[in-house]
Amino acid sequence: MSAVPPGAYRRYADVYDLVWRAAPYDRFAELCLEAAAGQGTAVRRVLVGACGTGSAAVELATRGLEVAGFDLSPAMLRVAADKRAPLLAVGDLRAIPVRDGWADLVTVLNASLNYLLDPAEVVAALAELGRVTTTGGTVVVEPLSSRFVHEGWEPGRHVDREGLRLDATYEVDGDLVTERLRWTAGGVAEVETYRQRLYGDEELEALVAASGLRLVERRPMWPAIADEPARGRTLWVARPPG
Ligand SMILES: C[S@@+](CC[C@H](N)C(=O)[O-])C[C@H]1O[C@@H](n2cnc3c(N)ncnc32)[C@H](O)[C@@H]1O
Repeated sequence: MSAVPPGAYRRYADVYDLVWRAAPYDRFAELCLEAAAGQGTAVRRVLVGACGTGSAAVELATRGLEVAGFDLSPAMLRVAADKRAPLLAVGDLRAIPVRDGWADLVTVLNASLNYLLDPAEVVAALAELGRVTTTGGTVVVEPLSSRFVHEGWEPGRHVDREGLRLDATYEVDGDLVTERLRWTAGGVAEVETYRQRLYGDEELEALVAASGLRLVERRPMWPAIADEPARGRTLWVARPPG
């Protein structure tokens, strides 16, 4: 049995940045900061939850902010560390390894929340995001877009560049999405499977409310970000209790 918890990326970490090379993380970071500014939050410290390979964290840090990131996957964090990403730790969205009220802005981008397959886990994670956010701070979460599930994300399904050939298929069974990744890099063939759950807008609204967060805005990433990877994606902006 694998010691890696479900949801944590494994060998896929090696090729993740190549797959997402076209993604404008600078604009993702800016959009999160704009969402926080829209709530009147003066941002000095940012916590990047499920930070993966640290692309958003690096972008935020280059803007002079104090930034920390955590992820369930040591493999993703190793890639982040190689990019000189800021303070990093292995950590779970359901038990965030950060003290209460540490960050003015807390972000969880690119459907990372959807690896939590049980709604109660999502409530626990959202409550944790609220706990580590200062009073007056802002939480920005990007849930899985139904567009990815029902139409697929074409550039992510077939990648053939710089020695990487990757095919992703998505199997949808009700709300559960099974992503099967098959790729070859450096002559080595790999296969990995990840499972996510698509939470519909009404269900997610109820989960946000149950966590104690207050939903204040849904900010579409498209066309604010005109690049293809932003299409269909939405930032959910919430405030912590208090
Ligand atoms: C699609 S990647 C997104 C990474 C990063 N947010 C980005 O925008 O590039 C999903 C990430 O969520 C992480 N993850 C999955 N479940 C998690 C959990 N319960 N707590 C923390 N990270 C988790 C995975 O290891 C992976 O790095």
